[in-house]
Amino acid sequence: MVAFRKATSKTSALIIAAIVLIIIAAIAGYYAGLSSAPSPTPASPTTVTTVTTVTTVTTVSPTPTATPVAKQLIIYHWWTAGGEKEAIDAVFKVFKEKYPDVEIVENPVAGGAGAVMKAVIWGLLASGTPPDTFQVHAGGELKEYVDAGYLAPVDDVWKDMGLEEVIPSTLQAMCKFNGHYYAVPINVHRSNVLWYNPKIFEELGIIDKFGDPRTWDLNTFLEVARYIKENKPGVAPVALATRNKWPLTHLFEVLLVLHGGPETYVKFWAGKFDYKNPDDPVWSAVRDVLKTIAIMAKEGLFNSNHPELTWDQAAALVYQGKAAMYVHGDWVAGYFMSVGAKYGEEWAAAPFPKSVFILLSDSFNLPKDAPHPEIAVDWLKVVASSEAQENFNLIKGSIPARTDVSPKYPDPYRPETAEDFKKSTLVPSAVHGGISKEAFVTEMHNILTSLVTSATAGADVDTAVNAAIQQIMQAIDRSGVVSFWEGYTIDYFITKR
Ligand code: GAL
Repeated sequence: MVAFRKATSKTSALIIAAIVLIIIAAIAGYYAGLSSAPSPTPASPTTVTTVTTVTTVTTVSPTPTATPVAKQLIIYHWWTAGGEKEAIDAVFKVFKEKYPDVEIVENPVAGGAGAVMKAVIWGLLASGTPPDTFQVHAGGELKEYVDAGYLAPVDDVWKDMGLEEVIPSTLQAMCKFNGHYYAVPINVHRSNVLWYNPKIFEELGIIDKFGDPRTWDLNTFLEVARYIKENKPGVAPVALATRNKWPLTHLFEVLLVLHGGPETYVKFWAGKFDYKNPDDPVWSAVRDVLKTIAIMAKEGLFNSNHPELTWDQAAALVYQGKAAMYVHGDWVAGYFMSVGAKYGEEWAAAPFPKSVFILLSDSFNLPKDAPHPEIAVDWLKVVASSEAQENFNLIKGSIPARTDVSPKYPDPYRPETAEDFKKSTLVPSAVHGGISKEAFVTEMHNILTSLVTSATAGADVDTAVNAAIQQIMQAIDRSGVVSFWEGYTIDYFITKR
């Protein structure tokens, strides 16, 4: 009973308070109406006081307002491994400092090299729900989106940021199609690098015996691998990762440039040779490389668990002393730095070969119908800025796309490769979207994976290689790579030095 009475008096107090509030709100609404109505005479000081009170009360009883338009940057990238993740976070930080009220809606898709993300993006574009921007390789990969009509030109960003003065012409050409720029590059990576464990190399006297890896040829590479297996059987001579398949095609592209030289490499990947004729000289270089890979698989020169590993897990084998060598791109430097592996003790790097630089560039773009196009342009300007390029590349293992940015690299590898970028012959990477047609590269992933699988299982090497060549011929035909690059000469793809 007592409790009931207390509750009753509490309730009446609440009702009275509510009535008072309603009355105040009504008066407030009245004055608010007055204050917002056009008045021929300036408001007197008394009115100002009243309006101040009104504002306060109005907040007690808010009137519904329209939902604010979300300030977002919807972005897709595939940087989830060590080094990559920290690098893109450094760019987000620069963006956030400039645009603190914009929410970054990040969609990282693991897989490395866009192995998984590219399919997701094509799906979003096809369904008319593009993000504001997404990671794309400059070159053929970018051209495919342009040809399909999914991207808007970003000429204004290039102009406003003065990019033509600071981006090298080879890279400009990889961002420009039909007379327009369609992407803003953030870096230059090198695909042809031999990563090795210096302790193992020293212990076995590899460099004394076989010379500097920068000068090795295909056969020396095979001989070194065999020598390591013979003298240190517990160590995998060459690290490999085939879980996402592409690191194997990556090995193939590097060995093809090493053995066939830049012209053969370009002719093969752009389909600019008499590919239906088995006697074309390009085939003999390709055959040698396929044979080397098959022999390595058959003789157990790769780590046997390669079907389970991703690119960074294979790199880990090198710094942990479980594998002696790894042929891969220089995001490996970013990975080694991210895990604190020591240069000179746990890892070292040699351009492979030094005379050629297989380049690739990560860039961002502006899809047509992007939900927040102005914010996307702000992002592209951050990507183009010296600050973002310096911070990103320091961590990433690459060098800036801008030639006027020279970070103080913590490793001795980058100063060498930055110098090579100016002096070596340049060709675009096939596996990383420079000179590819995606369909052809994807078929190569499958052909090479089955070559390695059958050679590992003991198949005859020549028979397996012949079968692979037949499959590649069909893949060139089927993928449409020849017509894709129609009108482009071999010189378009090579910067000779
Ligand atoms: C490449 C990309 C690099 C690197 C690598 C592994 O395609 O350009 O930035 O991160 O994939 O994910």
